[in-house]
Amino acid sequence: MQWASCVFLSLLPFCSAFPTEADEPCASTCGTDKGLVLGVYATEKEEKAVQLTKAGDAFDQVVSGKLKELLSISGPPLKKGKTRIFHALHQNFSSVVIVGLGKKGAGVNEQENWNEDKENIRAAIAAGCRQVQDLEFPYVEVDPCGDPQAAAEGAILGLYEYDEFKQKKKPAIEVQLHGSEGAEAWQKGLIYAEGQNLARILMEGPANHVTPTRFAAVIGEKLKSISSNVTVHIRDQAWIEAQEMRSFLSVAKGSEEPPVFLEIHYQGSSDTKEPPLVFVGKGITFDSGGISIKPSSNMDAMRADMGGAATISSAIVTAARLKVPINLIGLAPLCENLPSGKANKPGDVVRAKSGKTIQIDNTDAEGRLVLADALYYAHSFNPRAIVDAATLTGAMDIALGSAATGVFTNSKQLWDQLYEASIVTGDRVWRMPLYEHYTKQVTDAPLADLNNIGKYRSGGACTAAAFLKEFVTAPHWAHLDIAGVMENKDEVPYLRKGMAGRPTRTLVEFITRLSQDKKSV
Ligand SMILES: *[C@@H]1O[C@H](CO)[C@@H](O)[C@H](O)[C@H]1NC(C)=O
Ligand SMILES: *[C@@H]1O[C@H](CO)[C@@H](O)[C@H](O)[C@H]1NC(C)=O
Ligand SMILES: [Zn+2]
Repeated sequence: MQWASCVFLSLLPFCSAFPTEADEPCASTCGTDKGLVLGVYATEKEEKAVQLTKAGDAFDQVVSGKLKELLSISGPPLKKGKTRIFHALHQNFSSVVIVGLGKKGAGVNEQENWNEDKENIRAAIAAGCRQVQDLEFPYVEVDPCGDPQAAAEGAILGLYEYDEFKQKKKPAIEVQLHGSEGAEAWQKGLIYAEGQNLARILMEGPANHVTPTRFAAVIGEKLKSISSNVTVHIRDQAWIEAQEMRSFLSVAKGSEEPPVFLEIHYQGSSDTKEPPLVFVGKGITFDSGGISIKPSSNMDAMRADMGGAATISSAIVTAARLKVPINLIGLAPLCENLPSGKANKPGDVVRAKSGKTIQIDNTDAEGRLVLADALYYAHSFNPRAIVDAATLTGAMDIALGSAATGVFTNSKQLWDQLYEASIVTGDRVWRMPLYEHYTKQVTDAPLADLNNIGKYRSGGACTAAAFLKEFVTAPHWAHLDIAGVMENKDEVPYLRKGMAGRPTRTLVEFITRLSQDKKSV
């Protein structure tokens, strides 16, 4: 298909003069179906000269300075994230898209808490690749822009679009590194971005397709295809009952769809006895709110209420692909939260696996009910640290919007690692309080040890975290409330509208950092 369309489209004798084998796409010899994306830096007003990247300069030399010439006569200097397109500059490429990278060497922005160079590259490369995609070329070569990992991330994240159930799909496009430098970092960027895209696919997928059973099967198959150092347990209802995870089961019983407790192990450390880093992810594959039913507008977005499970599972899949030398365990309580004759009722009391009793005053605060049992179970692995991720509260979205994941943690060391990781990935975190102040608002319940909602309306993300803390004794624990970063409208320029898969890359970077730091945590 690839070579046939190339020959068909070709106007150059060059292309048909080299008939290609079916297994050897003619893209390497035929330029008519390939785009090239190159970066240009912003320059001060008084500076006239166009400042291209290293790869851009090399290309400009090949075309005898024509690129710089065209850039300076075709309009004002390119603004950050903007693109300009030129055709027929070189026989290898039908089109060359120039993208604005902003100021060179901007470094870490202390105000923004991220590496601005990397963010600029991701955004610019994403914009350039989309231009090539709109031209329906099957191939795009990408300027590494001095940071091949960030460039690869921008390309793969920027091109992603969910069209699983559409008959008319966007034409496939293959992304290639321009030049031969930085292949390893480029590859790493591809894997990081594909990890985030896996989480996006799972989150975006409709709830009648991405059921607890299907979710577990997808992750299980992925993991087993990547590494032999993995174990996948897809625990059924009988196992969950035997484990006395009654808090989790109380949520699941409102639905006909059977619950699953997914447990995945990745043994990457050569020391098999090394304590694992345990991830826990909220896996509500659809959240109607239950008897405390949600308003119907935008309720469809609640198919992504398994974003915690999706991001932690995708991060573990990615770590396994990268062969990170660390032991990981992922735990995901997966079920639906629906209203039925069997569903939780406000005021019901259940006894969690830990023995604590919970008064369920709001059946829509079900995430903490399933996490309570999973967090308690996480302690049985003698964990080095426990990190949970959950689209837990609307209050988190109110507090920070989609700028950053809220992190509640009892460990400065864990916070430092997450924070440093997020500066690199640009998928940011912000520390939130775990004060006793909030604990008092969930431990004062008329009928039980705990209430699943706070006494007062205020600080809902904080009272939710305080509730989870009641099931944690580990000295290194972090709870990530990802409700605010669940979905992208247009805030992150290199992600299209839809479920965002955040903060998968930050989790992967965090895992990598922890694998190199065996002392602090
Ligand atoms: C054009 O393609 C050929 C064949 O793949 C390659 O050797 C050459 O480096 C390419 N030139 C440019 C400017 O990309
Ligand atoms: C499995 O782990 C061992 C270290 O325990 C490592 O040497 C080996 O490369 C790993 N295999 C795979 C497929 O990741
Ligand atoms: Zn809910």
